[in-house]
Amino acid sequence: MEVVILPSESAIADLAASALVALVNAKPTAVIGLATGSSPLALYRRLIQHYQASEISFAQAKAFMLDEYVGIDPAHPERYRNVIETEIASQVDFAPGAVQGPDGNAADLAAACQAYDQAIKQSGGIDLQILGIGSDGHIAFNEPGSSFTSRTRLVVLTEQTIADNARFFGNDPEAVPIFALTQGLGTIMESRHALLVATGAGKAQAVKQMVEGGVSAMWPASILQFHPHVTVLLDPAAAAQLELADYYKHAFANKPSWQAL
Ligand code: F6R
Repeated sequence: MEVVILPSESAIADLAASALVALVNAKPTAVIGLATGSSPLALYRRLIQHYQASEISFAQAKAFMLDEYVGIDPAHPERYRNVIETEIASQVDFAPGAVQGPDGNAADLAAACQAYDQAIKQSGGIDLQILGIGSDGHIAFNEPGSSFTSRTRLVVLTEQTIADNARFFGNDPEAVPIFALTQGLGTIMESRHALLVATGAGKAQAVKQMVEGGVSAMWPASILQFHPHVTVLLDPAAAAQLELADYYKHAFANKPSWQAL
């Protein structure tokens, strides 16, 4: 796990975007895993700028979203499919149908989850998975207690996640759907490179547990300690509880220039 502590959200977005630009230029058919929520927004804005400057094209790429609310009005602006469309997909050159997400309005949700895992496999698997982390340590919507081998499935959101996400629903927790479909921890662990972005003091405890805590379903993101290629990009507030912060800074400052993220 490579932990990189950077001065600002904007420095994080620059570095994360450079990894994506390098990937897609080296492999135009790359499969990208897209997260929703606030954490990746600055990164998406940077990617759009790189696209507008003709430094990246998504024309042959594919993307899979991490998760989706269940039963949300298809036209709701906070439906994750719509958020991804607004924040990135419609602003770059993905081919029609190249960005997929779990269908939270499917008549048969279990079948939709199975089909989604299958679609990821058939695409060749996710080359780079963008992740955020919940204040309770979830990645995607794998809440505490999630099985480490879980696949895409229906989950019930914790009260903490509902409270955290109420800001997207007019600060009304009652308006936040309580069910979601999410890629499982097992699904996410199959990505070839996981790139997690966390900013702000509200993430400090979850980041501490993910990076330096014991691996436990109580803090689902801690499974990433077993992932062969994880990059964690943090601002100082999110990194505030890390015991080895000085080492992570020293390691990054001395990283050989030929070694990519
Ligand atoms: C969203 C997702 C979630 C968020 C997490 C952090 O697709 O998978 O795990 O990444 O809840 O959300 P923000 O970034 O809004 O703090």
